[in-house]
Amino acid sequence: MATINDNYLKLKAGYLFPEIARRVNSFIEANSDAKIIKLGIGDVTEPLPEACRTAMIKAVEEMGDRNTFKGYGPEQGYAWLREKIAQEDFQARGCDIDASEIFISDGSKCDTGNILDIFGKDNIIAVTDPVYPVYVDTNVMAGHTGSVNERGEFDGLVYLPITAENNFTAEIPSQKVDLIYLCFPNNPTGATATKDYLKTWVDYAKANGAIIFFDAAYEAFITDSSLPHSIYEIDGARDCAIEFRSFSKNAGFTGTRCALTVVPKTLTAKASDGSDVEIWKLWNRRQSTKFNGVSYGVQRGAEAVYSTEGKAQVRALIDFYMENATIICEQLKAAGLSVYGGVNAPYVWVKTPHGLSSWDFFDKLLQTCNVVGTPGSGFGAAGEGYFRISAFNSRENVNEAMKRITEKFKV
Ligand code: MLT
Repeated sequence: MATINDNYLKLKAGYLFPEIARRVNSFIEANSDAKIIKLGIGDVTEPLPEACRTAMIKAVEEMGDRNTFKGYGPEQGYAWLREKIAQEDFQARGCDIDASEIFISDGSKCDTGNILDIFGKDNIIAVTDPVYPVYVDTNVMAGHTGSVNERGEFDGLVYLPITAENNFTAEIPSQKVDLIYLCFPNNPTGATATKDYLKTWVDYAKANGAIIFFDAAYEAFITDSSLPHSIYEIDGARDCAIEFRSFSKNAGFTGTRCALTVVPKTLTAKASDGSDVEIWKLWNRRQSTKFNGVSYGVQRGAEAVYSTEGKAQVRALIDFYMENATIICEQLKAAGLSVYGGVNAPYVWVKTPHGLSSWDFFDKLLQTCNVVGTPGSGFGAAGEGYFRISAFNSRENVNEAMKRITEKFKV
């Protein structure tokens, strides 16, 4: 008799965003003329930059010519893209990262889950609360947790609460942990990390032989020039951190798929016999076996992000979404709501009005304003009483959504 991975039975019925989509679809079925505005999942709405499209079209033409046709590419990504990224995203910021330490992939969501393949089962894992749910769910799937309690917390994970009191930045845990997920600019709260703050984590990780999984998917949205874009801007991070980045949000690649993971060659962890093993070698082995790389055309599109035109077009996209974020923050504040984030991140984290629970506010907003957001409690127990609004939408929709919300929810 075939059996299943029982760990899947510990998970909530649905992943957060499909669950939201399910509720929205059933509302639409019953209210077919409702003009729904979606500010829930952080999915981009604006067209791909022209430089990326031009590069992809050219790449498709190359695939149609025997002389320039490409079969399998390198599992790690083409050297020309990895070198561009190393220079522009890391070396230009003083980070000691070599192109060979960059692995191109089809998404940060996939990589933050896949990375667990190469780590042991007995690591103590720390996540913030609230947190991007993929970090928790993939650990559950991998059998790294026990069962879930009524607050939605899994036995075996160390939850680090992030609240308005600590500026949505987790405190260093009092106990020893081995793997730590940090995401800055933060999804879902929009909070940021200073260099000094990240240094405390790097020092902790080095002192405890821990590894930080640093999710920098939103680094392009940083507007404050004093804030670090990469954990490798912190001395010592090469020895204790893996960084995840994506082209999804800066260049609008959510439907195109391209991302990268940085695994420094100096990063090691212990094998069960006590020896030190290079993480890079394991990740390279894993990727070479389980992954065949991102398509040639998409990698050419990603490379175009670093061209002069590409940089200007990506900047314009980011500025556009950040203007949306400013509108959302200003309108909601004017209506008397407490808002956080939205300054260096495309997410605005809102305290629900009138003491409503996150899901009650979700339902109210859907029913009375036909606006979709994301309930804070979907990101963890400490997100209860909060709500996330994404700045990814057209200006028209953002203005209309704010008009509807502020009319109904003036505090
Ligand atoms: C989100 O809304 O949190 C993001 O879209 C999730 C993701 O990028 O996978």
